[in-house]
Amino acid sequence: MSSLTTYDPLDPTTLENPYPVLTALRETTPVFWHEGMQSWALTRYADCIAVLRDHERFARDRRRTGAVVPEPSLSVQSLDPPDQAPVRSLFMNALQDQDLDTIERRARQMLAARFGQLTERAEFDVMTEVAAPLSVMVISDLLGVDEPDLDSFAAISDAIMRSMDAGLDPTVIEPGRIARQELNALVESWFCISGRPGLLAHVKEHARLRDDAGLDLFVRNTTRVMFQGGYSTMVAAIGNAIHTLLRYPQALQRMRNAALLRTGIDELVRYDGPVQGTSRIATEVCEIGGVTVQAGATVLILFAAANHDPNQFPDPDRLILDRSQGRHLGYGWGTHTCIGTVPAQMALRALVMSLLDHPTPLRAAEEPRRRRTATMRTFEVLPAAFHL
Ligand code: HEM
Repeated sequence: MSSLTTYDPLDPTTLENPYPVLTALRETTPVFWHEGMQSWALTRYADCIAVLRDHERFARDRRRTGAVVPEPSLSVQSLDPPDQAPVRSLFMNALQDQDLDTIERRARQMLAARFGQLTERAEFDVMTEVAAPLSVMVISDLLGVDEPDLDSFAAISDAIMRSMDAGLDPTVIEPGRIARQELNALVESWFCISGRPGLLAHVKEHARLRDDAGLDLFVRNTTRVMFQGGYSTMVAAIGNAIHTLLRYPQALQRMRNAALLRTGIDELVRYDGPVQGTSRIATEVCEIGGVTVQAGATVLILFAAANHDPNQFPDPDRLILDRSQGRHLGYGWGTHTCIGTVPAQMALRALVMSLLDHPTPLRAAEEPRRRRTATMRTFEVLPAAFHL
């Protein structure tokens, strides 16, 4: 079914606010064929969940439908069960072994110092002054590696993030390829040194004990995904969360309440999350929401649309800090659900508490500018200032 409503994620109005067009699509053609992306796109929560749950019929691993996947791309993110299981559980176990309380304390100390300096400034960019430094610190602490130079790492990460939109804009492919090589060199350097305690030391040691070349490759590739993917998603999530809290300053104040803080940081990701969607490949002919999907077809799961589906989230366009009903898809669902959910929530909590601790409130300054990216919803610039 082709849609009468045009969905161009890079259209300026859609970049500004994608939810009205996604709502119109959900109401008229909930499963529609997107010519530009050559994919079936899903907008209803129930259809998205059904596909994400069914990894037998909807593959992430393109090798299952005959494609050749280059070795450097084989990671937890591109494998399916059963190949995915050992590497996923290795990283999940390593994560549980980390001292997140200490990382959270350090994050709050860093934010307190930074907010103190930023108070002197008439205006600053939240993305470069808060979101990027907080994210690189948290992710480096978590992995147990030295923080890379932020400017050069952010440039690498941005090129990789933009290349996720290659289906819409082929010019991003080559810069993305070069950036991946640079990221590879950085991550390989961590495998050559013993490093400090942290998630990486844990996975390296366990992979070494298993003496399995296949697992070793997946571990190296997954380390790149964790570091760069974790960093770029955190930056975007922090920017989106601050933007929402600047619009609803009362919501920030209500999060002084511990219960509202806990549910509120989750609601911020549902309300305006960074990851707009993901894709799977149908391994056989199947039916989704009354539409027949051919074997080998790409299915686009639009998290942003599902997270604003009124059948799952009543009054979906309102920020409701104590929403109790339904789990949102901001962190995905099923075998590929986000590995970094707990540290991501920790960083968002540290951010909210640091904003609440700071003596002067954060205010919006000049108009923010969204980044022209489709898969990741984020800001190019988000001006703000600490003012009474
Ligand atoms: C608020 C911040 C974050 C959000 C909203 C988020 C969201 C997501 C989503 C939606 C997926 C699933 C994508 C899919 O199904 O294709 C995902 C996967 C993943 N995330 Fe996150 N993420 C965040 C932070 C992080 C952090 C900090 C890390 C690392 C410490 C991380 C590591 C990963 C990894 C490794 C995967 C792939 C898991 C797999 O395919 O098995 N994420 N994330």
